[in-house]
Amino acid sequence: MSKKIKGIILAGGTATRLFPLTATTSKQLLPVYDKQMIFYPLNILIKAGIKEILIIVAPDHSGQFLNLLGSIFEKYNIHLEFKVQKVPKGLADAFIVGENFIDNDNVAMVLGDNIFEDSTRLAQDIKSFKKGGMIFAKEVSDPERFGIVEFDKNGKAISIEEKPEKPKSRYCVTGIYVYDSDVVKIAKRLSPSGRGEIEVTDINKKYLKMKKLAVNKIKGAWLDAGTFDSLLEAGAVVKEKKIYKDFDPIINKAIKEFNEELKALAKKRLI
Ligand code: G1P
Repeated sequence: MSKKIKGIILAGGTATRLFPLTATTSKQLLPVYDKQMIFYPLNILIKAGIKEILIIVAPDHSGQFLNLLGSIFEKYNIHLEFKVQKVPKGLADAFIVGENFIDNDNVAMVLGDNIFEDSTRLAQDIKSFKKGGMIFAKEVSDPERFGIVEFDKNGKAISIEEKPEKPKSRYCVTGIYVYDSDVVKIAKRLSPSGRGEIEVTDINKKYLKMKKLAVNKIKGAWLDAGTFDSLLEAGAVVKEKKIYKDFDPIINKAIKEFNEELKALAKKRLI
């Protein structure tokens, strides 16, 4: 029997590129069209059938995550946990912060500011994961800004580099990472990179070296909503491509119930 997969959403960090919006709330609680950003990565994990999800948040606005998500999925048997990451130490740190949560299970991490058009296909891929590592690549026009995968002529991944000056391809590593529980000890052995962070790219390099890394090329739009322009674009893409229609019914129901609860509370306050 294959192991279960747990989910992690990394929603920490200070999001300085979105100051002053992020002085009053967390980046992942900002709106992308009609929903808070965090619902987009949550949708992928919930669509993949994942029932236990750890949300890693920064200390400043941690209570707001609890206000929004604290109990809305309870009746759907989806259990959310929250953990504060005091200082952002790099994406790979999520697996150290989440060590006890992951335990001996597989884990799918989604970055809290990533918006994917084809959530259905991604969720299927995550569901099919058995062991090793699985990442998702997308062609981009500015490969110097990302982790970049090189493929051989048979389409097999042969190298991964973080923000290369001379990129060997245009295929960027997007913000969904699925690993077996070995990821915890791999993350713990990493040394910080030049930017002082432990890099998820170094985890991927390790799995690639062990010949245990699957790299799936994705179709459809992919955005990280970390700047004013990409945040605006993400909202526009969600509207234009009707991404809001692809949400798991559990999320739609949970949001609707939460809205009704808020309206009832507001009415009571007016009486
Ligand atoms: C991080 C990763 C990079 C990946 C990118 C996807 O970059 O280090 O490999 O391609 O996320 O958004 P960062 O946003 O930390 O610069």
